[in-house]
Amino acid sequence: MRNQIIVGNWKMNKNNAETKAFFETVDAVATSDKGLYGVGVPFTDLRTALDGAKNLIVAAENCHFEDSGAFTGEVSVPMLVELGVKYCIIGHSERRQMFGDTDETVNKKAKKLLAAGITPILCIGETEEEYDNGKTADVVAAQLKGSLADIPAADYANIVLAYEPIWAIGTGKSASVEIAENCCKLVRDVVCDIAGADAADKVRIQYGGSVKPNNIVEYMAQPDIDGALIGGASLKEDSFIEIIEKTK
Ligand code: 13P
Repeated sequence: MRNQIIVGNWKMNKNNAETKAFFETVDAVATSDKGLYGVGVPFTDLRTALDGAKNLIVAAENCHFEDSGAFTGEVSVPMLVELGVKYCIIGHSERRQMFGDTDETVNKKAKKLLAAGITPILCIGETEEEYDNGKTADVVAAQLKGSLADIPAADYANIVLAYEPIWAIGTGKSASVEIAENCCKLVRDVVCDIAGADAADKVRIQYGGSVKPNNIVEYMAQPDIDGALIGGASLKEDSFIEIIEKTK
């Protein structure tokens, strides 16, 4: 049985004071026998978030794949380790579209994180045009094969994959439960091809894209959806608490 993992992605939102307030309100209710709740926060909020987290898991939103060097503006995995970070979002579509992340760099980041004991939350997903042209399966399979290349099967218990169709991100146009489940099943089948049945059984797969308090329960009821990656609805304490209460 896979434990559920429901994670907010704050993106470039919230300062330290807001982060402290969020954790003071939300952390105490973020417990469940079914699994984990957490939030991905900007680098500048990580210390405050980790200090405020007894229950919530705290994720960075990116990392570099080198340990140190002339990479102005980047943050390395050893730097995250020093802070006590245990999860890191990589390959979000916003980073792939706006900041040049590729399957190759995402793969390097995933390997570096796994070697450091940090769980990657690795995002994949197709554009609206690819979806309209029936290319979802090909695009997602190619992203997975590139991003997960040469990762040992035993590591998949420590990997979270987030299927986020780009057309559903921040649009309010969430994927239907059927599409979300079919695509998460597809992700699991591709993992089976790449790394075998045990890896596919252990890897946790999230759906992301306009997840809200009013649709989280039906997504979580699907057999291949083990969690959610939630943007907008994770920013307000009350909506994230509602998501927690509905999925406990
Ligand atoms: P929204 O929930 O705002 O659509 O964002 C989804 C997302 O990008 C999470 O990583």
